[in-house]
Amino acid sequence: MSERTLVLVKPDGVSRGLVGEVISRIERKGLKLAALELRTVQRALAEQHYAEHDGKSFFADLLDFITSGQVVAAVVEGPRAIAAFRQLAGGTDPVEKATPGTLRGDFGLETQFNLVHGSDSVESAEREIKLWFPNL
Ligand code: PPS
Repeated sequence: MSERTLVLVKPDGVSRGLVGEVISRIERKGLKLAALELRTVQRALAEQHYAEHDGKSFFADLLDFITSGQVVAAVVEGPRAIAAFRQLAGGTDPVEKATPGTLRGDFGLETQFNLVHGSDSVESAEREIKLWFPNL
């Protein structure tokens, strides 16, 4: 059964020229792109996207970072797409959690600048896709 997930290449990934690398790994895994767009993120969208983290110590940093430059937003689909992309991304902390061979493990150093976002559940994916691609 096919599933959809929201993927973001965050401002660090875009500014470092890693968009092609991320898309390439998604495609080589066998996942498909259902939507793809270069976007400037307004604060209101960032607040809604990360609403579940409101109140956490890193919330302000998270909003500042995601609105600090362009991002690439994508809807990615395929069997077990949510887990499959999170496997490609690697753990949140690029050094302590992500293993070599993953995007964060290969290209990241700091948790705040961890290159990509992927929805973490079916419910999150539905909510995030509606938020970023309301017409899809
Ligand atoms: S939690 O508390 O376990 O739910 O948090 P987690 O799922 O690990 O992370 C949620 C998002 O916040 C980002 N994050 C951080 N940003 C800046 N500074 C610090 N210390 C930090 N810790 C976590 C993390 O990358 C997640 O962002 P997304 O875009 O969802 O990957």
